[in-house]
Amino acid sequence: MLANAKKMLKDAKNGKYAIGQFNINNLEWTKAILEVAEENKSPVILGVSEGAAKYMGGYDAVVGMVTGLDKALKITVPVAIHLDHGSSFESTKAAMDAGFTSIMFDGSELSIDENIKITKQVVEYAKTKNVSVEAEVGTVGGEEDGVVGGVRYASLDECTRIAKEAQPDSLAASLGSVHGHYSGEPKLGFKEMEEYSRATDLPLVLHGGSGIPSDMLKKAIHAGEAKINVNTEIQEAFTKGVREYIDNNKDKEEKGYDPRKVLKGPIANMKAVVKAKIDIFESANKA
Ligand code: 13P
Repeated sequence: MLANAKKMLKDAKNGKYAIGQFNINNLEWTKAILEVAEENKSPVILGVSEGAAKYMGGYDAVVGMVTGLDKALKITVPVAIHLDHGSSFESTKAAMDAGFTSIMFDGSELSIDENIKITKQVVEYAKTKNVSVEAEVGTVGGEEDGVVGGVRYASLDECTRIAKEAQPDSLAASLGSVHGHYSGEPKLGFKEMEEYSRATDLPLVLHGGSGIPSDMLKKAIHAGEAKINVNTEIQEAFTKGVREYIDNNKDKEEKGYDPRKVLKGPIANMKAVVKAKIDIFESANKA
C-alpha cells in the first residue's frame, strides 16, 4: 500500500523504533524488500537515488515498477517511494509528479539560508501532492552515486532554523555517519541526536546505516533517529551471492546460466540483511 512517510516516521519517533530505508536498484531488489517488509508486517521506505532512478529508466519507470509489485504481491504494509538526496527543486518536483510519495531535498552543500529557501519551496509543492519531505543539514561523509562529501556535523542552530522555517517532516542532521565503509568505529554524536530531536520535535534520519554495530543503531534510535538508511550492506550481500555462484561453477551446470538461477542466492542474501535490520530497528508488527 503506497503511502507517504509522515505517519510511519511520527509513530516510529513516538514508539522509539526506526523505519528502514532500503535503497533499490532494480526489480529483484524491490521485490525482495517488499516481501520481507510484508512478512514482518513492517512499514518500509524504498530509497531511490537520482542515479538509481536513471539506471532503472527514470522516475516513471520506478513508480510503475513499485506500483505493479505492490499490487501483484498484495502488499498491505505502508510503502513509501522516496527520492534519496534530491539535488534540486526541479528534480524533486519531477519525482513527485511521477508519483513518488516521499522526497529528500539535500541542500547540505548550500549555505543554510539557501538550503532553507529551497527546502521550503519543496515542502510547499509537496503539500499539494501529499508527499513527505526530508531535509538535510551538515554533511554525511563518504561517497554515494558520485556524490562525495566529508563529514560536517550539523549545528543546533541549523536544525532548529530549518525545522521552524521550512517545516519538513523529517530531518537528516549529519552527526558523524558516512555512506559506504567506515574506517574504524563510527563516531556518532548521540548527545547531539538527543538534543536536536528534542529541539526540533522532528523524526531524525540516520544516513550511512551500513556497517554501524547494532548496539550503536539501538542507541541512535533511543536518541531520536526514526529512519535509518541502508544501501551498501544490501549491495555487498547481493554481490557476494553472485561471486559464490560463479566461483562454484554453478553457471556451468545445466541451464545454470538462467538469470533466475543465478540470482536466487543473491536475493536470499539481500532478504537476510533486510530482515536483520528490521529486527534491530524493531519495526516489525508496526504496520
Ligand atoms: P549506506 O550505503 O552506507 O548504507 O548508506 C545509505 C544511505 O545513507 C542512503 O542515503
